[in-house]
Amino acid sequence: MTHLFEPLTIRGITLRNRVGISPMCMYSSVDGHATDWHLIHLGSRAVGGAALIFAEATAVEDIGRISPEDAGLWTDSQIEPLARITRFIDEYGGVPAIQLAHAGRKASTYRPWEKEKGSVPKSKGGWQSVGPSAIPFDSDYDTPTELSLSEIDRIKQSFLDATKRSIKGGYKWLELHAAHGYLCHSFHSPLSNQRKDKYGGSFENRIRLTLETAEAMRAIWPQEYPMSVRLSCTDWYEGGWTLDESIELAKKLKELKIDVIDCSSGAGTPLAKIPVGASYQVPFAEAIKKQAEIMTAAVGMITEPMQADSIIRMGQADIILLARESLRDPYWAVNASRVVHQNDKIKLPDPYQYAAYPKG
Ligand SMILES: Cc1cc2nc3c(=O)[nH]c(=O)nc-3n(C[C@H](O)[C@H](O)[C@H](O)COP(=O)(O)O)c2cc1C
Repeated sequence: MTHLFEPLTIRGITLRNRVGISPMCMYSSVDGHATDWHLIHLGSRAVGGAALIFAEATAVEDIGRISPEDAGLWTDSQIEPLARITRFIDEYGGVPAIQLAHAGRKASTYRPWEKEKGSVPKSKGGWQSVGPSAIPFDSDYDTPTELSLSEIDRIKQSFLDATKRSIKGGYKWLELHAAHGYLCHSFHSPLSNQRKDKYGGSFENRIRLTLETAEAMRAIWPQEYPMSVRLSCTDWYEGGWTLDESIELAKKLKELKIDVIDCSSGAGTPLAKIPVGASYQVPFAEAIKKQAEIMTAAVGMITEPMQADSIIRMGQADIILLARESLRDPYWAVNASRVVHQNDKIKLPDPYQYAAYPKG
């Protein structure tokens, strides 16, 4: 029976176990450039035994950042600070992964810990957001401008340029962020997309941007490296994007040679009522895995080693991604391996292992 600490080979990459660090914005970049904070943050989670180490949502153009402090890959000078991190992750047995993103109508907002909420005014470093339609995300968000067809082409090109920079940056796993109300998801959902052209209306039109972008990225991303797409599998809101649509989209992404669907949900509308609790998004990973016959990553309120191991053993998902619990414990993977009786499968780096666990 496949378990949490069994390696997983996809294309030319082998994950040493099924534990990944989910993409997490640190709101600590300088003009989109990674800093020492990112090296220590991601590096310590590679040391802690996770197999797949995701960089945070990384904006493909400056107006695609969620906040002014977000990471980016829209210019070449942003490559080397990231390459420093990928070299370190590689050296300690992790697979460095990047999530390329455009925040769309949810761009230009304050960091979550600031007392101000919603859109950052232009006088304080904010910018005009863009989206499929001129519909704001919430009452304290600015109204986005509706993207023209040529602006959509520009953004698709930005995803390609950032993909090329990701290769130079040493990444071995690429993810397209199509979740959480950001640009691609906002095209999926009728709540935010009321366009009348080929990018709006029917299901085929609403998923066009994601499919065109994913296909073009996959075409230039090295064949030996995996690519995933993160979906909000449902809007949790009447009239919004649904799990059935996610399953159909996943089937089409599989045809485009996407390897894994990273199954998240929500954040497309503040009106959603989400039944947050243990493993609450795992049913989406399981449904997409079984019905679209594609590998999935499960994420969301997975905190306990036995819980994570059971999701893999029951065949509900192929990879477990941890976000908040990995902030509480960067060594979660090594600690979890002992709880699920697989401590021979994973070790801390030598300077720690011999002293921390002298008997193995
Ligand atoms: C600090 C923080 C930053 C996040 N940033 C991102 C991000 O950049 N991209 C993304 O897809 N999800 C992001 N998320 C969502 C997480 O990746 C994850 O899906 C979510 O937190 C649920 O997992 P958890 O219950 O293990 O925290 C973030 C979550 C946190 C807590």
